[in-house]
This record gives sequence, C-alpha cells and structure tokens, in this order.
Amino acid sequence: MSTPDTAETEVPYGIPLERDHPFDPPAAVMALHRGSEMRRMRYHPEGRLGWLVTSHRLARKVLADTRFSSTLGSPAQVPTPMPGLEDYLDFEGDFPLTPGMFIEMDPPDHTRLRRRLTGVFTVKRMKQLEPRIAEHVQTRLDALAAGPRPADLVADFAVPVPSMMICELLGVPYDQRERFEADSRAIFTMDETGEGKQAAVVNLFGFIGELVAAKRANPTDDLLSDLAADPELADEEVAGMATLLLVAGHETTAKMLALGTMALLENRDQWELLRARPELMAGGVEELLRYLTIIHTGLIRQVKEDIEFEGHLIRAREYVTVSVQTANRDEAHFIEPDKLDVTGDAKGHLTFGHGVHQCLGQQLARMEMRIAFAGLIERFPDLKLAVPAAEVPLVTGQSFYGVAELPVTWLGGAMV
Ligand code: HEM
Repeated sequence: MSTPDTAETEVPYGIPLERDHPFDPPAAVMALHRGSEMRRMRYHPEGRLGWLVTSHRLARKVLADTRFSSTLGSPAQVPTPMPGLEDYLDFEGDFPLTPGMFIEMDPPDHTRLRRRLTGVFTVKRMKQLEPRIAEHVQTRLDALAAGPRPADLVADFAVPVPSMMICELLGVPYDQRERFEADSRAIFTMDETGEGKQAAVVNLFGFIGELVAAKRANPTDDLLSDLAADPELADEEVAGMATLLLVAGHETTAKMLALGTMALLENRDQWELLRARPELMAGGVEELLRYLTIIHTGLIRQVKEDIEFEGHLIRAREYVTVSVQTANRDEAHFIEPDKLDVTGDAKGHLTFGHGVHQCLGQQLARMEMRIAFAGLIERFPDLKLAVPAAEVPLVTGQSFYGVAELPVTWLGGAMV
C-alpha cells in the first residue's frame, strides 16, 4: 500500500469553482483529473488532508463501496470554503445526526428509512403523476406568455415547477413556500456559516413539525399524512425525511431547468433537434444532466477506519470527494464528452449519484424535466436569451451550480 509522495505544499486545496465557460467544469478541476484519477486534496488551507477522486471508473467504485460512509464527522470537513470554518478545525468528534436525514446515514439506518419511501418514487408512480406535472407546466407557460418580455426563466418557470410539484406530493401548502425556500437555499449556500445552516435546518424542522402534527390530526391524501400515520416512525424522523425531500426536491431540478434551457439556447442546433424530433427528449434530458453536472462540489464520503483502496492507504476519518463533474466528462467512459449531443449516449452518467444513496427522486426529476423542456420548446419555439450569454449571472457559491437569473424573450406571440 502506498500514499502519494506529493510534497504537502503541492497538494491542491478544495475543488476549484470559478469557470471560464458556463457549461464546462472549471479548467483547474479538469487539469486535476488529467493529472491523476485519485490524489491528495486539502480540506482546509492550513492542512487536513483528504482525497479527491476524478475518474468515472473510481467514482463508481467509491460510491458503490460501503466502506465509504455518508456520515460526515464535522461541518468543517467540506472541500469548499465556508465562513466560520476555523471554529471547527480542532473538532474531532462526530456531530449528532439529524433524525430522518437518511442521506447522511449508512445502512442499516439508511435502509430502514429509504425503504419507507421507495414505493412513492417508482417509475410507475411517477407516470401517474405525469398529468399533474403537465398541468403545472402549462400554468407556468401560460403565465410566461401573458407576462412581460423579457421574462426571468428562473423565477417564472424553473423554480415554481418543481417547487409546486414537491409541495403537492408532500402535502405542503405551496402558498407557504416563503417559509422553506430561503431556508433551503441557506443550507446549500457556501457563504452561510455553520450556525446559519443549522438555524435554517431548525427553522425547516419547526415548519414541517407543525405540518406533521396538523396532518396527524386531519390526514389528507399526501405523503406527509401517510408518514405521520406510520407508527414505526418517530415524529422527528418524519420531519427529517420530509425536510430532506423538500430541499432535495426543488432546488436541484430548478437549477437543471434553467441551466439546461440556457445550454439548449446556446447550442441552437440541439434545441431545433428536440423541436423537430420530440422522441429524443428522454435521451436529451440524460445528456443535459451529464453535460451540465450541477453537483459541482462533488459527493463527500468519510472512511471510519484505515482502508486500502486502489493501492492507497486511506486513514480513518479521512475524507474522500468524488468529483462527479469530471467523471461525467471522462473520455475513458463517454465519447466526445465535452460536446452537448442530445442524440448521444449519456448512459452511466453519475449526476444522480450511484450506489445505495443514488437519488431517490430521479424519476420525478426526469419526468419534470422532460415535460418542462418539451413544453417550453413547443410553446416558445423561437425563445432566446435577452442578454449576451456572458452577462447571465452564474451561481458558483452553492452546492448546486446554475444560473441566478435567465432573462429570455421571444419574437411573435407564444404558440397556443
Ligand atoms: C440523493 C442529485 C432531484 C431526492 C441524491 C444524490 C444526488 C442527487 C447526486 C446522491 C447524494 C449522495 O450520494 O450523497 C439530484 C439531481 C436532481 C435531484 C441532480 C435533479 C436534477 C431530486 C428530487 C428529489 C430528490 C426531485 C425528491 C423529490 C433525493 C433524496 C436523496 C437524493 C431523498 C437521498 C437518497 C439517499 O440518501 O438514499 N440526489 N437529485 N432528488 N435525492 Fe436527488
């Protein structure tokens, strides 16, 4: 077994986030990937060595290997800057787990909670939801068509569609979205302190907790009522599971819808292809997921005891970041990975992760994206950016990459 003999000063710090091109991973990350498929990385400028895995082959291997735990010790152990990090530098213990947040758990706790929800997110169940998603999309398209030009596709379309849908599925009143949208964003924002994130989680728990109590008293036909009635789940577990679904269920898809639209507008031939051949949409969505990889800070794991992996010794408590964006651009797995090609084969992309934590909501996300992109293309065939692409504000300071606003306009009347 060996650990790389790179001098410590040469070990890069964190995942580079700044981009030269809105759709390509930062050049500095791609350079790390070309250098080696697995390397040491600093998790803090002052030290704290961990690992970075960049190839598709090793990304899959790590995510499928249960020796890599999803229970992370301290909030300081992130490969990206976070204010207040210094407060945690000497922290050696494990932070308590948030009840119900099974994304941070390992089997068997993870299995017990995830299993409770798998039936809700199957392809079949999502098929049944299709008409409701289509209705929500139509409502937003109508509002866009009736509203002023230019419109902001983020606020007017990309955020409301998944937000309305997850609210409906859970049974959270959509008109109370101010109570969760800002807090969800705080959880994923790097400028937010550890305390700020914790406060946002507490707020969300309070909000959902109230709803759980109300649903138990007066059950309705939704997932929250269903979970609240389950005698095997503690109240705080129900609140944690619902909070996880709420935050995971809208910000991600919203980022994909806006950035995906921009990518299609900037690759007009691809937009036109999807317009001419709607049957390409399912593959086109997979290709957009691969090409754009909004999970730009990667997926983080921790090993709990010394392990040997690919000839390296990974020490107990060391962190490993799986860089999904480089894995999705890996030439060893994808043909012409730097090209957006809606007719291409994006099979095996890792944008929904891999292994036991693979995205639970992926069928819902896929269905929303297919219907939303198709609706947009059909209704506004000549949609275009209302500002030069270089002026579209990018969001690099959150766990999910995307655009903050997407000013769009169109020429004639929208198709009815
Ligand atoms: C997990 C991405 C949409 C619910 C994950 C993971 C990724 C991911 C990469 C794995 C995390 C890890 O391994 O640590 C995405 C992307 C989405 C999306 C790119 C949209 C484009 C959704 C939606 C929902 C959802 C719509 C819910 C309705 C979840 C949940 C988990 C998860 C509950 C945790 C699964 C587990 O730990 O077993 N997602 N997601 N996601 N996602 Fe998604």
